[in-house]
Amino acid sequence: MQHFLDLKLLDSKELTSILDLASEIKDLMKNNLNEYNSGWGKSMEGKTLLMLFEKPSLRTRISFEVGMTQLGGHAIFYSIKDSPLGKKESISDTAKVISRMCDIMMARLFEHEHIIELAENSTVPVINALTDYSHPCQVLGDLMTIREHFGKTEGLTLAYVGDSNNNVTHSLMFGCPLAGMNIKIGAPDSEEFIPQPDVREQATQMAGSAGTRMEIFADPIEAVKDVDVVYTDSWMSYHIPDYRKAERLTALMPFQVTSELMSHAKDSAVFMNCLPAMRGEEQTAEVIDGPQSIVFDQAENRLHAQKALMLRLLGIG
Ligand code: CP
Ligand code: NVA
Repeated sequence: MQHFLDLKLLDSKELTSILDLASEIKDLMKNNLNEYNSGWGKSMEGKTLLMLFEKPSLRTRISFEVGMTQLGGHAIFYSIKDSPLGKKESISDTAKVISRMCDIMMARLFEHEHIIELAENSTVPVINALTDYSHPCQVLGDLMTIREHFGKTEGLTLAYVGDSNNNVTHSLMFGCPLAGMNIKIGAPDSEEFIPQPDVREQATQMAGSAGTRMEIFADPIEAVKDVDVVYTDSWMSYHIPDYRKAERLTALMPFQVTSELMSHAKDSAVFMNCLPAMRGEEQTAEVIDGPQSIVFDQAENRLHAQKALMLRLLGIG
């Protein structure tokens, strides 16, 4: 694994190995801090992560920066607003310069093609920290959270409900089959809201070879029926312009995750949202603040999963 651009480029063994390492490091840090500090806590000494941001962030920025601190390394936050990129500098020159000074980089960008170009021109590992197309780091943390909660991922079914022409949905569609999970999508029956055609095709193929299922429903109740995990994400992703809001809210409201909708999932089902979340839009406050919600475990596990990812990419541990 040279870069981490998409879960579709990973196999189940690599995924399991990252999740195992993440859990090991998390447990050690929580239960034996002295041992952690003298081992993993020094493992990135002298190493620098460059974090390039074209969009806002709370979790991604903090989890990568804290992750590097906890591994003994250093992280630089670099906003595209402060860079010559796209104005006086090309992506390829940017990648080459960063490669001469830093050990690893992550980028949160609009265009997915731009992260591919960054990786093609970089001699250090490049991590996709979200593009309009995918958000693989989120789903690494999500799979870790599901595994922690249920003790396994294999055989479970996740329903994603809402705006499914969406980076998080796409990454879940790649991640679920790798983890042996079925995925059901519930979204309005329109190209605007269902996953992009190439993702539908690749996810179907991945599910076929993993022996799992990938299905799309226009009825939210059918989508969540008897599932283990109900997942939703913002109806107004960072790249969607504000003027689209009223129309999108009207179209997506039948897919709002309410307590009534949750009652069609298994009694043991959990609720997930990658956050940021809007109460009263993609879910009600009752659901996200209720006993089935594991959204803050999800947020925390970004930290542990990405530490493991960076270690694997740098061949440490
Ligand atoms: N879930 C997630 O990536 O959050 P941020 O946009 O705050 O980084
Ligand atoms: N789909 C959301 C994810 C935020 C973490 C977005 O792109 O804004």
